[in-house]
Amino acid sequence: MNVIIAENYDLLSKKAATIIATEMNEKPDGIFGFATGSSPVGTYKELIKMYEERIIDFSKITSFNLDEYIGLNKEHDQSYYYFMHENLFNHVNMREEYCNIPNGMADDMEAFCNEYENEMQKAGGIDLQILGIGPNGHIAFNEPTVYFPDKTHTVKLTDSTIEANARFFENKDMVPKEAVTMGIGSIMRAKKIVMVVNGKGKAEAVRRMLKEDVNPNVPASILRYHPNVTVILDKEAASLL
Ligand code: F6R
Repeated sequence: MNVIIAENYDLLSKKAATIIATEMNEKPDGIFGFATGSSPVGTYKELIKMYEERIIDFSKITSFNLDEYIGLNKEHDQSYYYFMHENLFNHVNMREEYCNIPNGMADDMEAFCNEYENEMQKAGGIDLQILGIGPNGHIAFNEPTVYFPDKTHTVKLTDSTIEANARFFENKDMVPKEAVTMGIGSIMRAKKIVMVVNGKGKAEAVRRMLKEDVNPNVPASILRYHPNVTVILDKEAASLL
């Protein structure tokens, strides 16, 4: 695992974007796993700048997003579909039909999860996966539990996650209680992983990910078993290491 400590969020975002851009140039038809949340927003801004400067091209890439809330439709301004379009897809030349985001409104969630997982594998698997980490050590919406879920599945969000994400909603009660998420196996099958983490609020999760035994109570700790992970931290996120 390669751990990089950047001076601040701007430099962290530039570093992450450079790794992603390098991958896009090496594999213009690559499969990219995107994350939502506040952590990668700066990275996406950098990628948009690089696209505008014609350093990168999104026209042939395919994307699979990590997760989506159950019960929010695409138009909801807190859906991850909306987030990805606002923060990246609407500003670059991604083809809409190649952007895959879990459908939080599927009638048959189990069938949807199987299909999403199969689509990912059919596409050849993810070349580069971008991740954030939750304050409780979750990756995607794989919450702390007693095992590492393998494939895309539905999950009940923990209080800690609902609390952490309440800042994006009018109040805590508006945060959906369930989500659909790639599994830990889906993430671990990615060829490369880049995690971005900023802020003091994540310092304890980062310490546990890197210093505690690998265990499903800290889902991100499994990344230590992956052969190609780069974790980019700002100084605050790295402050307990
Ligand atoms: C988002 C996701 C989550 C976030 C994590 C951190 O698609 O899967 O695991 O990466 O909750 O969220 P932020 O970046 O908002 O602190």
